[in-house]
Amino acid sequence: MYEVRIIGTGSFLPQQIIKNDSLSDLVDTNDEWISTRTGIKERRISSGENTSDLAIEAAKEAIKDAGINAEEIDLIVLATSTPDFIMPSTACLVQKGIKAYNATCFDITAACTGFIYALNIGYQFIRTGQSKTALIIGADTNSKIIDWSDRNTCVLFGDGAGAAILQRTDKEGIILVDTGSDGRGDELLFCPGVHLKNPFMEEQEEKKQVMHMNGKEVFRFSTTVVPQTIEKLLQYSSYHIEDIKYFLLHQANARIMEAVAKKMNIDPEKFYKNIHKYGNTSAATIPIALNEMDKAGLLEKDDLLVLVGFGGGLTWGSALVKWNK
Ligand code: UT7
Repeated sequence: MYEVRIIGTGSFLPQQIIKNDSLSDLVDTNDEWISTRTGIKERRISSGENTSDLAIEAAKEAIKDAGINAEEIDLIVLATSTPDFIMPSTACLVQKGIKAYNATCFDITAACTGFIYALNIGYQFIRTGQSKTALIIGADTNSKIIDWSDRNTCVLFGDGAGAAILQRTDKEGIILVDTGSDGRGDELLFCPGVHLKNPFMEEQEEKKQVMHMNGKEVFRFSTTVVPQTIEKLLQYSSYHIEDIKYFLLHQANARIMEAVAKKMNIDPEKFYKNIHKYGNTSAATIPIALNEMDKAGLLEKDDLLVLVGFGGGLTWGSALVKWNK
């Protein structure tokens, strides 16, 4: 088995900033409620960019950061719940956009856990020798599936993309990944797909193609599953909670991070937060934050990080990473 490390990161966000106050024009809400209940102050919303446009820019930055040529990439895995098309995959659109013509490309859907699942796929492809250099992307244009008349969801989400380049190495990088799913929670967070209809069946009621969420239940699930996956991850490694420099959780709600810190008795300062600027960008929150942390000089060689995703499916996953860029 080969070792796998992250050699570059990138991110891209739409320019348009929508502050909490602007949402009061659409629904009965206010800055005070949104800030105190979620930690969100503003989010970026597409003014025409689709998921592939965001992903291509994030990928270009990651490629530059890694110092590689796009032709070296042999695998592109893109996690999204908001693809440009049902087919072709958004990963294929990225391939064309960055001219990575030697890559095998596909999308995966694991909602807000998508980046961790994609990272795991890239990790396994490289570990087993099938791939040498993989581009992993989390990208979502949530604004196109948000019900802008539903205050329970429309204040939470934003658009964005983040990317990482993984490469075969002989040094320790990605140490362990833990993932899980529970399809019994399918109705807690969902967005209907294309309406089922054909000339040989009875007409069915058409569901609005927007996101629906039972916030309270998803909150409960998140604060339960995140400590469990972190504990499982560390149990199978030779490291302890105290060895971890940063916990990078999916940015869904600042209160989830605070609750996990309290439950696990971890210094809340170790939980990186940028939710105030971007809201919940689904599959993109983790790679956007990773890129931001690296650019801000927070990550030093051999630092240990725990990345954790959770969300619709239900799905969850975590990765123990030694920073070795
Ligand atoms: O990325 C995928 C994972 N997603 C998550 O992890 C999200 C998890 N859930 C959450 O983050 C929280 O449950 C929410 C932020 C969605 C909601 O926070 P909450 O503290 O659980 O609020 P709530 O749903 O219990 O609502 C409390 C009150 C309700 O009013 P009443 O019934 O008490 O009169 C809501 O109608 O707040 C009301 N409310 C709002 N008020 C102003 C709900 N949304 C809003 C709003 N502005 N935007």
